[in-house]
Amino acid sequence: MALLECGARVWLLVAAVMFLLLQARLFSVQTKYADRIALAVEGENKCSHSKKALIDQFSVQQGRIVALEDEKERLENKNAQLSLLVRDYRRMGKEVPKLVGTKPVAAVVIMACNRPDYLDRTLNSVLKYQRLVAEKFPLFVSQDGPMESVKAKAKSFVGVGYMQHLEGDPPTRNPGEIVAYYKIARHYKFALSQLFDIRGFEKVIILEDDMEIAPDFFDYFEATSSILDCDKSVVAISSWNDNGQKQFVSDPTALYRSDFFPGLGWMLTREFWDELSPIWPEAYWDDWLRLNSTRKGRQFIRPEICRTYNFGEHGSSMGQFYYKYLVPIKLNDVHVDWKSYDLESMLKEEKFNKELARRIALATPLNNVDENILKMVENVNRDIRIVYNSQMHFESLARAFGVFEEWKDGIPRTSYKGIVVFRWKGNRVFLVRPDSREALGYNADVF
Ligand SMILES: *[C@@H]1O[C@H](CO)[C@@H](O)[C@H](O)[C@H]1NC(C)=O
Repeated sequence: MALLECGARVWLLVAAVMFLLLQARLFSVQTKYADRIALAVEGENKCSHSKKALIDQFSVQQGRIVALEDEKERLENKNAQLSLLVRDYRRMGKEVPKLVGTKPVAAVVIMACNRPDYLDRTLNSVLKYQRLVAEKFPLFVSQDGPMESVKAKAKSFVGVGYMQHLEGDPPTRNPGEIVAYYKIARHYKFALSQLFDIRGFEKVIILEDDMEIAPDFFDYFEATSSILDCDKSVVAISSWNDNGQKQFVSDPTALYRSDFFPGLGWMLTREFWDELSPIWPEAYWDDWLRLNSTRKGRQFIRPEICRTYNFGEHGSSMGQFYYKYLVPIKLNDVHVDWKSYDLESMLKEEKFNKELARRIALATPLNNVDENILKMVENVNRDIRIVYNSQMHFESLARAFGVFEEWKDGIPRTSYKGIVVFRWKGNRVFLVRPDSREALGYNADVF
């Protein structure tokens, strides 16, 4: 009996050992398969990753092909125009002037979306002056979205390149945000990338589809373009002055450095674009350009009298300001021989600062300004300067005159080293910070 029990125990033990061995084997097989599955999953991930990369690459290349086809069409168009011109010259027995081989100064792009009537007005205004300098300033329309009437309008003008940005609505970050600001930022990135990265222009001038330009618009940009080449403390040239309303301007030749990005009709270089494009924001690109962290202490050039006029009452930006600030803008209407000015030297930081400091020093100081400020300024009838001690103080002064009160990233619109300058009855008014003249590098006693 005991022997039998013992035998059973041995069997049980053997069975248990066998069972354990089997389990161990099963486990090892399982692990092996699990490893294999993991490897397979990893492989598949890699595969779909490279598939995605290939698809991305493919769509980039396809975009390039489309852009190059557009460019080819534009050049063929231009070629045909030039041939006609040459034929006309020959028929008239005149010598054919040198038309080809001119290096472009900058590509000009009109940003359009869904306003065919506005685009028509803008194109007519721009072409009026661009036709004479078409070689130096090749013109493009970039359309955001599929609206056929806008496309047809753009294509109905001879000698105008056409690009189209087609992408679904981008997501917004916060509830209640207006998607238009996201679409605008993305469209700007598209157009700039097309012109700089694919078509290889060195500079680009950006206009919107609700602008008219001044007769010297192209001369102005041609003359100022060398500033961008030589002076790395200037990142863009603008044709706009926020305080450019009729009552605040008088000198068509005056240009200023500005810490505040004026926007609206502006020119930038490929070098600046290469810096901006990898960090281009999803929305509010113009306010982003106004951040010191973006411009890194560098400046913009702006005129006293605007070279663009914004007639866009129905737009996504500045709608609320339209009647107060945009309607009364003075668009320059006199001829300025920009080539005869040494702009590069006049606007060089040191020289510009010295001249500005000199003018501020010569201006009559006004203190204790009150509600009679306009009367006081008119009585003085010379350039005046008023020191402001805070943003609130500045705002109350700006309100009294009717110039922009608004600040962004710690500085008022149009300001340079805290200085806001505009005209009142032809005389200059300087609103200055207590440290503005020091910031210019000249204290009170220099002049
Ligand atoms: C703006 O940026 C520049 C360079 O990055 C820096 O030197 C300067 O102090 C900044 N200015 C302000 C007001 O933050």
